[in-house]
Amino acid sequence: MKVAIAKGRIEKAARDYFEQVGLTVWPEKRGRELTVEVDGHEFIFVKGDDVYKYVMHGAADVGVVGGDILREKTPGVLEVVDLPFGRCRMAVCGPKERKNGTKKLKVASKYPNIAISHFASKRQNVEVIALNGSVELAPLTGLADCIVDIVETGATLRANDLEEYETIFTVNAKFITSEAALANNPDELKAWIRRLSKEDAQ
Ligand code: PRP
Repeated sequence: MKVAIAKGRIEKAARDYFEQVGLTVWPEKRGRELTVEVDGHEFIFVKGDDVYKYVMHGAADVGVVGGDILREKTPGVLEVVDLPFGRCRMAVCGPKERKNGTKKLKVASKYPNIAISHFASKRQNVEVIALNGSVELAPLTGLADCIVDIVETGATLRANDLEEYETIFTVNAKFITSEAALANNPDELKAWIRRLSKEDAQ
């Protein structure tokens, strides 16, 4: 199996969980290598935003990625297992002193589609500014009035004197695959799915 793993927070939690359910794992300290082969499986480590692309194009059979990214990009991959890690929430956050008034709200986010659909569902006309990271800076510098972002521990919000206004939805990591991978290797893939779902637990 070729397995694409989102680097960073998800990678560590995924390794712990794979080990717990008895699946092959990659070495804890892998240095700068972006691909590691263990027991005939190839693990590849990519940015969270790119995991589904490897799976969609057949360069990986399966992947582990945050549900936030799948919700934002809605790629044509199969979300086959809800994983019990990578838990956080998508929220509207901003300064403790909220912006009131009639001016159109400016919202900064790494998740522009989620931000647009959230405010549209409330019939609120906003301007969404798409950023690539450090989104908390936007309300601090006047770039935006508030943000739509993931909150895990809340440490980044606290450190920047911001607060959560509203939770939009909760998030967890997902195990994904494609129709093609499922057709090519159904038995092994189904065995992995059972393991990860803990369906074959004793
Ligand atoms: C994510 C997210 C928040 C932070 C939330 O950013 O965009 O900034 O983590 O986590 P916390 O509630 O535990 O503080 P990330 O660390 O991925 O960096 P980025 O801002 O560069 O995208």
